[in-house]
This record gives sequence, structure tokens and C-alpha cells, in this order.
Amino acid sequence: MLQPIAFVRSIPDSFAGALTRAEPASAIDVTAARHQHAQYVACLGGGGFEIEHIETPPAFADGPFIEDAAVLLIGTLLLTRPGAPSRRGEAAGVGEALADRFEICSIESPGTLEGGDVLRVGGRIYVGNSSRTNDDGIQQLAAVAAELGIETIQVPVLDSLHLKSVITALDDETLIAAPGYFDPGVFAGLRVLWVQGASEVNVLTLPDGRILIPASKRTVQEVVGAEGYEVVTVDVSEFEKADGGLTCLSLRTNDG
Ligand code: GLY
Repeated sequence: MLQPIAFVRSIPDSFAGALTRAEPASAIDVTAARHQHAQYVACLGGGGFEIEHIETPPAFADGPFIEDAAVLLIGTLLLTRPGAPSRRGEAAGVGEALADRFEICSIESPGTLEGGDVLRVGGRIYVGNSSRTNDDGIQQLAAVAAELGIETIQVPVLDSLHLKSVITALDDETLIAAPGYFDPGVFAGLRVLWVQGASEVNVLTLPDGRILIPASKRTVQEVVGAEGYEVVTVDVSEFEKADGGLTCLSLRTNDG
């Protein structure tokens, strides 16, 4: 089996001005963010990903959140059109860096889509209809996915940045989610572990089966560990100040 690749983006000085839904208690420390990012990348590498780096142009403060800029669907790379206007140019550099490996297509106006709203579970894609991703963007994604034989299911999301701020997958049968942000009936047939609070449940399953969880999310670590999964932790507090989680910091071929 091919080793999965995780594409990650560098942290520009402008990351200090990354978008935030609420003013953080302290300003983003870019030096600390770079250190934490290196630790995060080491965890991905230690868990079985091959790592590839893509430069972030200085103009894109939120560029390190590479998952929002593109969605991998088998051999196709769908460049997104983020709902946040300041993020609209991020996808171009990802497309240029990866054009020789994937067939490239794009979400076109008036569609908006951010990869943080795209959750792959088994053979299906669940897409959050959030403040960043609209109906038109979801329809465009669904059309590309349908050509590849992948079913897309729309999930209206209330009061959360992204769908994956409130639900992620531990494996093809098990999800971890925060109650109150979406209709749980959408995920009928799958097992869901519930933990209160938006941005608590963004975890990343490593190729070796261990679950990477932010150091700050103690309850999630306990819940996941109690289910028999091996837990790995990493401090991403500087990214949490910018509403970032673990999945949005990489674009992974095993998600496609
Ligand atoms: N800072 C991540 C975002 O708001 O898009």
C-alpha cells in the first residue's frame, strides 16, 4: 500500500493576524506557532504520513490551515473558494504545488466551500452547510464526487466555524461529536461518542491507528482512550487562538 502523504504549509509572519471568531486572551505568538507546527508535523510523520511542505505566501495569514483550501477526492484535487473573503487566494498556491500529481478542478462563484466542512467517513462525504460553505458550493462538490462514485450528504451546521469543529471520525464506523450543532439523525448507523463543546472534538486519526488529540482537550483524550484507542497529544494552543484544530493544519491523501 502507498504511504499516505500529509501536505502542510509554512507559518508566515502574518499568521499573527489570522481570523478569529473571538479575540483570544493573548495575542498569537508566531514563533511559538512555528514550534508547535513542527511538533504537529513530527506527530504526523511518526504516525505514518510522508510529509510534504508547501510555502504560504505572506499575504495569507490563514494559509497554514491548508485543509480549507482544497479537498482530495481520489486522484482529483478540488480547489475551494473559501467563504472568508480574505482566504480566497489560498487555493491557487496549493493547486500550483500539486498540479503535477492530481487532476485539478475548482469551486466557482457563487459557490463557497472550505475543507473544514468536508468529513470523509468510509465511502461517503458529509459536507457542512456552515457560514463558510453554501448550497452552491456543496452542489459543485457533490457533482465532482458523484462522477467518482462518492455519495455526498449535506449537514446543516449551527453556530460553528466548520462541520469538523463539531464532529470528526476515529475510524470508518466511529465518530466523535459535540451535541447541539447538527441533526444527529444524519449520522444514523454510525457510532457517535459525544463530548460537550464546539472545537473540542477535532481529532486526527493517524495511519497507524493512533488518535492525535490537542493537549488542551483532556476530556476528549479520556473518552477516546476509554474506548481502547491509543491517544497521542500535541500542543496546538497558538492555532486554537485562531479557531484552528488538528485536521485543518494538513491535507491528507488518505482522506481522499
Ligand atoms: N482562522 C481560521 C479561519 O477562520 O478560517
